[in-house]
Amino acid sequence: MKRLSRLVFFASLVASGLPLLGGETLREAAGSHLLIGCAVATRDLDDPKLAALVAEQFHCITPEYDLMPAHMVDDAGKFTFDAGDRVIAFAEAHHMPVFGHMLVWHFVTRQWLFEDKTGKPLPREKALANLKSYIESVMGHYKGKITAWDVVNEAISDKDGEYLKDTPALRAIGADYIAKAFEFAHAADPKAELYYNDYNIEQPGKLEKTVRLIRSLQSASVRIDAVGIQGHWLIDWPPADMIGKGIGAIAATGMKVMITEMDVDPLPRDSSGANMAQAEKGANPYPHGLPPEMQTKLAKRYGEIVTEIVRHPAVTMIGFWGTHDGRSWLNDYPVKNRTNHPLLFDRELKPKPAYDAVNTALKRLP
Ligand code: XIL
Repeated sequence: MKRLSRLVFFASLVASGLPLLGGETLREAAGSHLLIGCAVATRDLDDPKLAALVAEQFHCITPEYDLMPAHMVDDAGKFTFDAGDRVIAFAEAHHMPVFGHMLVWHFVTRQWLFEDKTGKPLPREKALANLKSYIESVMGHYKGKITAWDVVNEAISDKDGEYLKDTPALRAIGADYIAKAFEFAHAADPKAELYYNDYNIEQPGKLEKTVRLIRSLQSASVRIDAVGIQGHWLIDWPPADMIGKGIGAIAATGMKVMITEMDVDPLPRDSSGANMAQAEKGANPYPHGLPPEMQTKLAKRYGEIVTEIVRHPAVTMIGFWGTHDGRSWLNDYPVKNRTNHPLLFDRELKPKPAYDAVNTALKRLP
């Protein structure tokens, strides 16, 4: 950051009484090379210290869940925009771009969009009409206020030999529900950037399917601007060079790449990654804080991953899935009620060694 703008930046922080952490903030360390973001929800904004930290550290935000279909519309089709509006008003007040998460997903949604009450798929034309009017209502409301939308979330199958997940949208409409969602989104707000967002897509298997999906949208002349690699990574998987190769393969299709939901889980998972019972020995090993050797391990892992990511000019945003450890979804996933420590700030909002590692990796940008 240039000296003058740095001075202005610090002066504005002092004037606003924000908590200065000392040293460069994340957004300063990244400068103008790429955006640094985080997921926030309305309840985060009720905590003035946390809200100040968000404005101090990050360039942009993603509403964590306030824009999900089940929060936008009820079972009778009535829309409520209040929570989303509050998050967006905060972003506007701090001149922060907003990344909209998301328009189509098989979780946190409403059954009536694609199924009848008995779970039977709706006729294709009815499901398409619902998809179109849902997208028009939400994107219409936020037109001009949301920079980019995750149009479809987590549609690619994790199973070998299966391309797309078997979801209500797929059963009612067919595989082209993805292309249709992008078409409807482009028509609803032609200026909004449109993204496909998913987990593990930087890894072999899912990566090939992701490239296939991008190519199919491109050959149908459907607008798609970027792919969001969620980045819910583990302390020891996947290796940083695999992440780099995945980014490279997606970038080679001409897409921009966003790291949309980064966190690094230091807690143990069983081989399925999702079924470990809370009662199982060792499932919640750090209820009183991460021991120093784990802090160091987490910091090293964050540093290695971010160092790899920033080597790729196609990556124009790194967003963290939350702010402090107490507000991470990983306290309840894949096991409920654990004490997790996957983010850059601890429960007292103090920056962790992982914060320093990310900050240093960002500062190495040319
Ligand atoms: C999670 C949120 O963090 C939770 O608050 C919500 O209840 C469920 O969703 N992949 C995604 C995100 O795309 O939407 C998920 O976020 C985490 C996994």
